[in-house]
Amino acid sequence: MSEAIRFLTSLAQALAKMSLYADGHPTRAKAADASLAQLRELQRVDATPRFSFLGPAVVYGDRAIRELSDWDWAAKLSGSGIQRIEFPESVDPEEYRGFLEEILTNIALVAGGKLRSEPELAQSRLTPIRFGAIGVRASQARSATTEEHAPEPALQLDLTEEADVVMWMHDEVAARGRLPLVEAEIVIDSLSSAMHQQANALVPLLTLKEFDQYTTTHALNVAVLAMGLAEHLGLSTREVRAYGVAGLLHDLGKVKVPVEIVQKPGALTPEERAIMCQHPVDGARLILESDNRLDLSAAVAFEHHIMIDGGGYPTRRSRRDCHHASMLVHVCDVFDALRTHRPYRVAWETNAVVDYITQRMNTEFHPDIARAFITMLRERELRDARADAIDGLAIAHAVA
Ligand SMILES: [Fe+2]
Ligand SMILES: [Fe+2]
Repeated sequence: MSEAIRFLTSLAQALAKMSLYADGHPTRAKAADASLAQLRELQRVDATPRFSFLGPAVVYGDRAIRELSDWDWAAKLSGSGIQRIEFPESVDPEEYRGFLEEILTNIALVAGGKLRSEPELAQSRLTPIRFGAIGVRASQARSATTEEHAPEPALQLDLTEEADVVMWMHDEVAARGRLPLVEAEIVIDSLSSAMHQQANALVPLLTLKEFDQYTTTHALNVAVLAMGLAEHLGLSTREVRAYGVAGLLHDLGKVKVPVEIVQKPGALTPEERAIMCQHPVDGARLILESDNRLDLSAAVAFEHHIMIDGGGYPTRRSRRDCHHASMLVHVCDVFDALRTHRPYRVAWETNAVVDYITQRMNTEFHPDIARAFITMLRERELRDARADAIDGLAIAHAVA
């Protein structure tokens, strides 16, 4: 860890010095070389170091570097579209200098009000060092279809960064079988503070029309709904957070399901259904293999399609109750899935989903949890209506 901190400090010093001197000045090369020496020191203990910069947070490998919590370069890098840097095993001085020049160009463009798009960034890269938006690889897999929710008064939050992180997270799990837990926790922290900043929205239902990937939108929505409901039920802050992480990861096993099956417009064949029904088992396994402290998330991934009467999937040999978090995520999952337009059906109106949940209390859903969920929705509607009325009064007042 200390090598990583020393390297990042040298990176910041090099960038600061290079920005002071004109191109070709020997100080620029010297500053870059000093930082490269620190990178090589780091590479003695970690041949291919990887960093994420998410707002003010710095993640090295799978750990947050708390010592750098007030390091202002993290925000500068992530704000200029560089949320991720991955170093290859060998970097020569010219490549490293080129990489630093690219970062400086990016920061300067942002300061001048222009953020380069991912294709522009990729084109300009002359170094083998991978850097850019965190969703750089996942973004290539974005489909052209747009997900739509039933028209609802929705909380407008800018969740671009969170959505990118979730997309990248799914991609990491699919490509390397590794779950970037620290990044997932940072997403939960950020969703949690966004929820609390919105005084008139008890449950922020996200309509992320700009994000065309259902898996990402759905993971974020279920995380927010699960945290909202856990909070509504009076659970502790720690539990609310753990339920949020579990909501975010509940469908992780779908990274193993071929995309043609996930996005199939028609009904699934029995074989395709069998593959789809494997996602709870695969998800639980992926989570536990990544981090065995995530046993709650693994239980939720495994149990979120099991009904309280034992129906659903996967089937278990012994009959026992699912974890409270699994039953809670189950309600949030069904609610968000039905409210979203899918290739095989249109989005349902909220009232239709509420009827669906009500009819299935005691069979599919735990009645206390389902009732609490509906109460929470109704309270939110009341708050929204009240807020609209206050807005209306303010406008009328202003006009008068
Ligand atoms: Fe699922
Ligand atoms: Fe789901």
